[in-house]
Amino acid sequence: MKHIVSGIQPTGSLNIGTYLGSIKNFVRLQEAYKDHHFLIFIADLHAITIPRDRAELRKSIKEVAALYLACGLKTDNLSLFIQSEIEAHSQMSYLLQCFTYMGELERMTQFKEKAQRQEKGVTSSLFTYPALMAGDILLYDAEYVPVGDDQKQHLELTRDLAIRVNNRYGDFFTVPKPLIPKVGARIMSLTEPTKKMSKSDDNIKSRILLLDDDNIIRKRIMSAVTDTDGQIRFDPNNKPGISNLLSILSAITNESIETLVNTYKDTDYKTFKEVVAEAVVKELKPIKEKYHEVIKSGEVDTILDQGKAHAERIARKKIAKFNHKIGLGRKQK
Ligand code: TYM
Repeated sequence: MKHIVSGIQPTGSLNIGTYLGSIKNFVRLQEAYKDHHFLIFIADLHAITIPRDRAELRKSIKEVAALYLACGLKTDNLSLFIQSEIEAHSQMSYLLQCFTYMGELERMTQFKEKAQRQEKGVTSSLFTYPALMAGDILLYDAEYVPVGDDQKQHLELTRDLAIRVNNRYGDFFTVPKPLIPKVGARIMSLTEPTKKMSKSDDNIKSRILLLDDDNIIRKRIMSAVTDTDGQIRFDPNNKPGISNLLSILSAITNESIETLVNTYKDTDYKTFKEVVAEAVVKELKPIKEKYHEVIKSGEVDTILDQGKAHAERIARKKIAKFNHKIGLGRKQK
C-alpha cells in the first residue's frame, strides 16, 4: 500500500499556523487519498534538538496526539504514533548522516535561523536534524509528504538522499513528493507579519492557539498588525498583515483569495477583522470540544499503541534491509 507520511513537533501548544499548514491538509488528504495509508506522528525526537523541560514535553506529546484526533483525523487509514517509540527512526537518522554532506546541512535556512536565535549551546542534533527528518520519511517509503512551506528545503534534501542511495545501491527508497497546500502553507505572525507564525515566538500575541478561548482569539485578530492604506488587497510584500488575514480566511473557508478580495474590497479593516475573527472562532469551536472529549475518553493511548505496532513492523523491516544493503553486520543466510 502507498504511504503518506508527516509529523509535527510537540513544542508547546499548537497554533493555527501549524493547523492550517498541516493538520487541516491531512484531514482533506485523507478524503482525497482513500487508497493510501497515513503514517502521522508526533516528532518528539525533533523537539529535543533544543533543550526542553521534560514535564512540558510529555504534556505536549499527549496534547498533539489528542489534537490530531480532535481536528478530524480518521483512524481508518491512519497509524498515529510517537516517533521516539520506534527505535528505527534514531537508527535511520545515523545511517543517513553517513550519506549527507556538511555543506548540505549548512545551507538549511531553518538551522541558520534557529542557531542564530540561540546564542549558546547549539547542539549537533540541531545541525543533523534534516537527516532525522529524511529518515522519518524514507523508513516508510512515503510517496507523499504533506508539509507547510518552511519544510520544503528539508524535503528537497530527503529527495536528494533517496536518489543518492538509489544511485549507489540500486532502487531502494521511494523518492517522496511534497504536498504543500495552495493557501495556508505559510501563516504569518499577527504582530510581525513578515515573520512566520511560530510556536517558539516569545510574543504570545503573535499567534492563536487551537485551544485559546473565543475572546482571546477575537482580541488577537482585532489587534493584528496591518497597514494604514485602508485597502483590502492581497499583496504579501507591501501589505503583509492584510494578506495574512486573507490567507487565514481563505484556508478556513476554502474560498479563493480573489473571491474574498472581491467580497471585502469595500470593507474597512475593523469589519474585515471581525469577519476573520468569527471565522477562526467558528473553526476552532468544534476542535476544542472534541479535544476535551478525546482526552476524557482515554482513546488516545489505544490509538497510539495500534499506530506504533503497525509503523514499527514497517520500519523494522526497512532498517534491517538497509543495514544489509550497505554491508553492515554479517551476511544473511
Ligand atoms: P513543525 O512542528 O515546525 O510544524 C509542523 C507542520 O506545520 C507546518 N507549519 C506551518 N504551516 C503554515 N504556517 C505556519 N506558520 C506554520 N508553522 C508550521 C510545518 O511546515 C509542518 O508541516 N521537522 C518538522 C516535523 C517533521 C516532519 C517529519 C514533517 C519531522 N519529521 C517528516 C514531515 C515529515 C517540523 O519541525 O514541523
